[in-house]
Amino acid sequence: MKEKLQAMRDALERELDAVRASEDVEALRVKYLGKKGELTGLLRSMGSVPAEERPAMGKLVNELREHIEGVIGAKKELMRAAGMQLKLEKERLDVTAPAVVRPIGGRHPIAAVTKELEDIFIGMGFDIVDGPEVEYDYYNFEALNTPPGHPARDAQDTFYVNDKVLLRSQTSTVQIRTMEKTKPPIRVVSPGRVYRSDAVDATHSPMFHQMEGLVVDKGITMGDLKGTLELFAKTLFGEETKLRFRPHHFPFTEPSAEVDVSCFVCGGKGCSVCKKEGWIEILGAGMVHPNVLRGCGIDPEVYSGFAFGLGIERIVMKKYGISDMRLLYENDIRFLRQFG
Ligand code: DAH
Repeated sequence: MKEKLQAMRDALERELDAVRASEDVEALRVKYLGKKGELTGLLRSMGSVPAEERPAMGKLVNELREHIEGVIGAKKELMRAAGMQLKLEKERLDVTAPAVVRPIGGRHPIAAVTKELEDIFIGMGFDIVDGPEVEYDYYNFEALNTPPGHPARDAQDTFYVNDKVLLRSQTSTVQIRTMEKTKPPIRVVSPGRVYRSDAVDATHSPMFHQMEGLVVDKGITMGDLKGTLELFAKTLFGEETKLRFRPHHFPFTEPSAEVDVSCFVCGGKGCSVCKKEGWIEILGAGMVHPNVLRGCGIDPEVYSGFAFGLGIERIVMKKYGISDMRLLYENDIRFLRQFG
């Protein structure tokens, strides 16, 4: 009996040493101390031990049971602590480590200037509206008082999807779309892409950006056009900016004008930005032609309006001193980064 107890103690020791998971420790407890466990079996067989040896034997068995309970408990505690340590290691977080810096993009200069223009007109009570780039000939030309065969079409040759559908050559299309949908008073600006079948060079691109403006109400005059554009130009280029209206012709306005601002670099003395002219042309404008109003179901005897259209690239280039338009479309990060 004594030898059996010693053998059991030794076996348990080896088995505990080999244990890797806490479930295995529990399995060992069951193996020795469970209802059908080895030590429990030994206790049951005490009956066969001679009566005079029983107390001494009983004492030994009890000692062994206490021993087994002790080492198994200790092992369980050890494994729990080790598990916790492992978990802590795994979930360790160094809050002092430098953060991962994700680069944040900046606005493209065309987008930045577009936003600036929008903000100025929003400040004057204009709404921003949008129109399609793939457009009907009707909206791009015909409804703008430019029927087939009209010479003004030549200067705006564009890309055709078919006889009736084209890539719009001007944002003036949005004038018509707006007047068809809304009753006066109308006060909108509409920035967007336009297309022309121009060869690429430093000042031309088959795709560029314009912003259209349209105001229609009772009693709108050329004075309103001048006042609006003057406030716009002073906000964009500075308080000292002067405007110059030169007579011009557009089919959809009468009278029409091309509008220059005094050079914001030299103030009008003449420099490389204004090409020694002292003035920089920024837009076309005029009073909406009665034919255009009538075509949209607006009575020109009751209502009048003004419109203007400006080239966004031109303003971007003058503003930032960019001499080659192609830089704006190459997406060279070294160029774009300068505009943050
Ligand atoms: N759409 C004209 C162009 O692309 C610019 C323009 C001129 C727009 C006069 C207008 C305007 O609204 O009234 O050349």
